[in-house]
Amino acid sequence: MLQGTLHTPDATMRAYVEAVDAIVAAGHDPVATTRMVEQAAQNLIPSNYEVPAGLRTEYPSAVYTRNLVYSDPELRFAVVAIVWGSFRESRIHDHMNWCVVRCLAGTCFETSYSIVDDAVCNGRAEVCVSGGRLLQQGGVLGIVPPPRANLHRMANAGWPVLVTLHTYGDPGTRARVFDPVERSIEIVNLQFHNLLP
Ligand SMILES: [Fe+2]
Repeated sequence: MLQGTLHTPDATMRAYVEAVDAIVAAGHDPVATTRMVEQAAQNLIPSNYEVPAGLRTEYPSAVYTRNLVYSDPELRFAVVAIVWGSFRESRIHDHMNWCVVRCLAGTCFETSYSIVDDAVCNGRAEVCVSGGRLLQQGGVLGIVPPPRANLHRMANAGWPVLVTLHTYGDPGTRARVFDPVERSIEIVNLQFHNLLP
């Protein structure tokens, strides 16, 4: 039984969120939690899953739209559907905690980065590309906690709309963003467009 509000009537999303709630409640370490949430995202969401209209809605002025599915009242996790127009992309960022991404529709491209100067000093860091991968519809990727393994940029790899489902090991409202040219770092607050008035 979920203690918080599910922002969609969709039964698949309810089953998935309930499974994540149970995994998080079991109190595993972050790496084990990431792997178990990955499995839940793979097993509980069909590959031909149709994203509910309320989670596919795009906010006109946003680079990409973040629609909240569920926020745990105890702030342990959040589930967010992100809608990306053609070739839209995020800034380079990392995650304060673990994160699992499931591609619900379209094709996603993830570029991974490394920090090459060994310390993040005075709010600055130099980064370089360390890899890239395509995530097709139905694909899942797990991102383990910082400091090293989770610096990336997400992008819609094509013309059709991309929808990705992100499960964060925190409220999903903050990210550390890197500007690769300026070598600057900033903490940004992220909003949920489906909750805006
Ligand atoms: Fe991310």
